[in-house]
Amino acid sequence: MKIAVIQGPNINMLGVREQNIYGPMKMDDIHKQMEDFGKQHGMEVEFFQSNLEGEIVDKIQECLGDADGIIINPAAYTHTSIAIRDALTAVALPTIEVHISNVYAREKFRQKSLIAPVSMGQITGFGPYSYHLAMMGMIQILNEIQAMKAQQQAAQAAQQAQQKQ
Ligand code: DQA
Repeated sequence: MKIAVIQGPNINMLGVREQNIYGPMKMDDIHKQMEDFGKQHGMEVEFFQSNLEGEIVDKIQECLGDADGIIINPAAYTHTSIAIRDALTAVALPTIEVHISNVYAREKFRQKSLIAPVSMGQITGFGPYSYHLAMMGMIQILNEIQAMKAQQQAAQAAQQAQQKQ
């Protein structure tokens, strides 16, 4: 199964920008940890970062039929982007919203997320570890979905076998 990790504007500046808020870890190092953790659990993990809203919308659309779940840090677009929210609603994939900082302990304008209502859940405030928690959550969700599908298929096969008798 495949998890798409989508990073919004300025996340590529991690390790340089506001280290007092976001810490010293670089985006690539976070991605390496996610990739390794995914591998340990048999998951392929794909990474994408853009500073442009439309490119993020395109990437979410491309996930349809290609990825099984989305982990997204929409960064500043969290608080403004109806387009990203609509794209997530359109593809209807299990989605987890991630933030490095605790957005609820910051400025008022960061305390509103347009993305949270269309996500399975939101993880905010654990530093780079937020991404690891999101991976744990997503792996659990995808495994549950797979188990449910297997159960449904087994039930269907049993029903068909019974009808043939
Ligand atoms: C952020 C929080 C946003 O408010 C901010 O615009 C970011 C990063 C976070 O990960 O804490 O760029 O999404």
